[in-house]
Amino acid sequence: MAGLVPMTKLNILDNQHPTRTVAPSLELAPRPTSLAPHSRHQVPEEQPRWSQRFEGALHPFITRFNASIGFDLTLLQQDLDGSIAHGRMLAACGVITAAEAEQVVDGLETVRREAAAGTFCPGVEAEDVHFAVERRLIELVGDVGKKLHTGRSRNDQVGTDLRLWLRERIDELEVLLRRYGQTLLRLAEAHVDTMIPGYTHLQRAQPLSLAHHLLAYVEMTRRDRQRLAQVRQRVNVSPLGAAALAGTPVPIDRRQTAAALGFAEIYRNSLDAVSDRDFAVEFLAAASLVMVHLSRLSEEVILWASQEFAFISLTDRCATGSSLMPQKKNPDVPELVRGKTGRVFGHLQALLTVMKGLPLAYNKDLQEDKEGLFDAVRTTRDCLEAMTILLEEGLSFQPQRLVAAVGNDFANATDVADYLVARGVPFREAYGLVGGLVKTCLQQGILLRDVPLEQWQQVHSAFAEDIFAALEPRQVVAARLSEGGTGFARVREALEQAKAAFAD
Ligand code: ARG
Repeated sequence: MAGLVPMTKLNILDNQHPTRTVAPSLELAPRPTSLAPHSRHQVPEEQPRWSQRFEGALHPFITRFNASIGFDLTLLQQDLDGSIAHGRMLAACGVITAAEAEQVVDGLETVRREAAAGTFCPGVEAEDVHFAVERRLIELVGDVGKKLHTGRSRNDQVGTDLRLWLRERIDELEVLLRRYGQTLLRLAEAHVDTMIPGYTHLQRAQPLSLAHHLLAYVEMTRRDRQRLAQVRQRVNVSPLGAAALAGTPVPIDRRQTAAALGFAEIYRNSLDAVSDRDFAVEFLAAASLVMVHLSRLSEEVILWASQEFAFISLTDRCATGSSLMPQKKNPDVPELVRGKTGRVFGHLQALLTVMKGLPLAYNKDLQEDKEGLFDAVRTTRDCLEAMTILLEEGLSFQPQRLVAAVGNDFANATDVADYLVARGVPFREAYGLVGGLVKTCLQQGILLRDVPLEQWQQVHSAFAEDIFAALEPRQVVAARLSEGGTGFARVREALEQAKAAFAD
C-alpha cells in the first residue's frame, strides 16, 4: 500500500481496545475543519476503486475528510461479530455454502487476532472499519471473502455495530452506577445519626439526617439506572438486513442474525432501520442526566470543602495543591466532574442537530453520530468512577462542624410553629407568633433555646416546659416521620429499601 506511514502503537479513544493501533496520521492530523492544502496531509496516492462506474481517484484531502476509520475502529469487535452472524445466516439460508461461511468466519477471527496483536492497522484509504475488515478478509481468504457483503449494506452494518457497542457500554455503566449507589449507601449508613443543615435558597432551612441528604442522590441514581435500562430496550433492536434502505431480494433471515447477536427485536421498517438514531439520542439524554446528578453532588462537595462550610475535609487521595499557594488543598475531582458535564450535554445537542433535517434514509451526516457518543460514554464512565473513589476515600465529614452548624441558628423555628399547631393553634397564626419571637431573639442576639419559659408563655399560653426538648435539633429531625421525611426511623427504613435495590 503506497504511501502508508509507519505504524505506531497509540491507545486511541479509551481502554476498550487496549492494544489498538492506527496509523498516526489518522489520529494526530488536525481535524479537517478548514480546507488546508492537501499537500500537508499524508494521504496515500492510491485510492480504492468503487464500482467500475468510477474512473478517477478521490482527492487526497477528501479521502481523509470522508474517512471515519480514525474513530470507528472502536466498533471493530462489533463489526466482526455482526459479520460473523451475517455470514453464518447466509449459509443457513443457502445463499453461500457452509464451507464458504466457515472460511469467512475463520478469516474474520484472524482479523480479530491481528487486531489483538496490534498488527491490524488500516490506513485512511480504507475509509471506515467496515471496508477495512472486508478488504483484509479478502486478502486473507481470497474470493470467498467477496461474498460476505451479499444482502447487506454498510448502512445497516454501521447501525448494527453501533447498537451492539452501545448495548455493551450500557451494561458497563449499569455496573458502575450500581457500585456508585452502593458507595453512597455505605456512606449514608454510617451517617444516619449525623445531622447536617438542610438548605433552601442556599439559606439554612431545617436540619436533616446526613443519610437522608445522601439518599436523595441514591434516588437519582435509581432513576438513572431505570432510564438506562429503558434506553437499552430501544438500543437492542436489529437493523441488520434492512440493507441500503429498502431491504434485499436475497433470501436472508433477519431474525436469525438478530437472535445470534442477542437483539430482542428487529426494526419493522427498513428505512427507519438505517436512519434511526433515536436510541443514541436517548442514551445521550440519559447520560446527560447522570452527569447532572454527579455535577450537583460535586457542587455540594465543593461547597462543603470550603472553609466557609468546612463540613468535610478532603483526604490526600483525591485533593491537589496549588503551584503557588502552599496552604491550598483543592477539590479538583468534583470540579472536573462538574466541568465535564457540559461535554455530554453538547454531544446530545450535536446529535439532535445532526438528525433534525435528515431526509430518509441514510445520509453521510450520520457518520457524525459516533465521536460524540464515544466521548459521552467515556466521560460518564470516568466521572462515575471518579466520584465513587471520591466518596470512598476522598472525603470525611467533620462531626464538630456539623454539630455546630445545626445547633446555632433558627432552623428549628418551624418546629415551634408545629408545636403550637399540635396544641390547637392554626398554623398561620402560629407562624406569625414565632416570626415575632425570632425577631426579638435576633434583636437580643440570642437563640430560641435561650428564651425563658415566661417569655414563651407571653407569646402563647400553650407553651410549656417541653418546648425546650422540641427545640433540640435531634428532636427536630426525629419528629419528621412523614413518609419520605428525614425522621431517623424513616431514614433507616429508606436505607434498607435502597440497599435491596442496589444489591448485586
Ligand atoms: N462510515 C459510515 C458511517 O459511519 C458507514 C456507512 C457508510 N454508508 C454509506 N452509504 N456511505 O456512517
